[in-house]
Amino acid sequence: MVGSLVATAFWAMLPAYVPNNFAVLAGGGRPIDGGREWNGSRVLGDGKTWRGTAAGTAAGVALALLLNAIHDPVSAALGVTLPTFPLQAALGLALGAMMGDIGASFIKRRSGRERGASFPGLDQLDFVVGALLFAFVAAPSWALETFTLPVLAVILVMTPVLHVTTNVIAYKLGLKNEPW
Ligand code: CTP
Ligand code: MG
Repeated sequence: MVGSLVATAFWAMLPAYVPNNFAVLAGGGRPIDGGREWNGSRVLGDGKTWRGTAAGTAAGVALALLLNAIHDPVSAALGVTLPTFPLQAALGLALGAMMGDIGASFIKRRSGRERGASFPGLDQLDFVVGALLFAFVAAPSWALETFTLPVLAVILVMTPVLHVTTNVIAYKLGLKNEPW
């Protein structure tokens, strides 16, 4: 029961988990805010780029399509009926994850935190909130069916743990400047 909940939560959120990691790999180039400031601080900062955002979103959608392709054997092997991703759901999850992260940078800059500063709580959940919000708007009936309250509860606990772990690994590998 708990195992199938965790499997469903993880599978359903995978297209929202990979975009940020891909953005780290693909980042660089023109910042989204074009260098503009607002009240003396950058609107978003150099850490939010067009290339990172586009690559992250594309990676999330591509992963969702890949998961659709391997859905049947994986569901059978686990004995769990995992969700499949309609294109709107895939796009909502991936783009929403990137938007949540961008929204967090906007909040960080407004509160005087420079690029790379940590904001515990926000850093770990920004992309979950964005992904869920966008998924519910882009594919409402799919989202309602997929993100039941127990699944949402697992996501809220599991995500920060996964986020901290993957970021520490990315930091140790020299891919990220800070371990958050
Ligand atoms: N990145 C990007 N575009 C995005 C998100 C991330 O290019 N939309 C890349 C940037 O190179 C960024 C790196 O991924 O520096 C790490 O992402 P993140 O930790 O979100 O950015 P920070 O540089 O820490 O900046 P912030 O304080 O705004 O979070
Ligand atoms: Mg950061």
